[in-house]
Amino acid sequence: MINVAILGFGVVGSGAAEVLSDNAAIIEKNLGCAVTVKRILDLREFPDSPFGHLVTHDFQDILSDKDISVVAEMMGGSHPAYDFTKACLEAGKHVVTSNKEVVARFGAELLELAAKNGVRYLFEASVGGGIPVIRPMVNDLASNKIERVDGILNGTTNYILTRMIHAGATFEEALLEAQQKGYAERNPAADVEGLDAARKIVILAALSFGTLLSPDEIHCEGITKLTLADVAVAKRLSCSVKLIGHTELVDGRVLAMVSPRLVPLSHPLSGISDVFNGVLVDANMVGEVMFYGQGAGKLPTASAVVADIIDIVAHMHSDNVRTPKFTVATAADYADFSAYACRSCVSFVNEEGAAEKIAAAFGAVETVVEGDRIAFISAEMTEKAAEAAIAATGLTLASRIRMLG
Ligand code: HSE
Repeated sequence: MINVAILGFGVVGSGAAEVLSDNAAIIEKNLGCAVTVKRILDLREFPDSPFGHLVTHDFQDILSDKDISVVAEMMGGSHPAYDFTKACLEAGKHVVTSNKEVVARFGAELLELAAKNGVRYLFEASVGGGIPVIRPMVNDLASNKIERVDGILNGTTNYILTRMIHAGATFEEALLEAQQKGYAERNPAADVEGLDAARKIVILAALSFGTLLSPDEIHCEGITKLTLADVAVAKRLSCSVKLIGHTELVDGRVLAMVSPRLVPLSHPLSGISDVFNGVLVDANMVGEVMFYGQGAGKLPTASAVVADIIDIVAHMHSDNVRTPKFTVATAADYADFSAYACRSCVSFVNEEGAAEKIAAAFGAVETVVEGDRIAFISAEMTEKAAEAAIAATGLTLASRIRMLG
């Protein structure tokens, strides 16, 4: 029997206990041994939970317990989650986590520490909730060079955008619903300002290109500035609006970014609604592959945490398992964002002669008039060139939303 400890008995932590208990028979059949929760660390008491008697408030009870070989960290936040993870790895315990904040900031260091101590650090649930994406990237795409990743990586914002576009809900109403369903971060600013997606795209960039950028150093725009006028323009152009994490190499350096994008209705990411996430990986041999499923929520995310526990137990006595590998990025690894090129949907406040001014700055483009706006999709331009052309029109910019594809 393998004993597991859970750090953090919140939405995902309690979900992991539930998955291990409800699917105990299936897990035991798959592994040939039982996996049991022995202790749970949390500041609170849970008298009504069937796992309440396992709760301790003292991390040392877990760290010093030699019978606990795998620790599942689902505390959220950097500290003390990072410190506890480090202590567990140093004590020779395997660690799995859903904590994207810790992986995005300290993942390279923790992977190295795990390797040094002969244990594993796995984080399938940190990106895409319940969707298998990290293990397939590490294992099944190992024969490929990854060219590009585009993903809807935040369930809360996708839920909000879906409710705004299709149900006429206000931003606030939709956010409240997402919070009630347990999708949103404790501080939902991390969702709506794009930081949660930034953490996830730097993890995917690290798996793709081998270096872990800082989520604080990449271009990151959330959905708070999007308006119903933007949605109306998108509809006129046969597009949906999505918050997209994107990574690729620009001039041999790693670019990772998060921003709203217009996604043509023909694109595989455009129809992904509600809390669902989708990750589209373009690799040089297989071409495009897409991973799709519930990107947030208790049991979907917990199922990915438990999948990591199962992976660890299944390979406990093997010293040759594939595991994520990347190092901390140096300044030279970061691409120059101003050199990144894409098409954009540019909307100006319409005025007399606007179409001519647009043509003079952007060349021949097809404009549409929607409400008080005149909008068009530009040719592929670098960030620097797009900004210069916008300024050259002398028009009042309503919005510029990058295109996907
Ligand atoms: N707040 C996150 C989301 C949870 O909405 O996607 C899953 O990481």
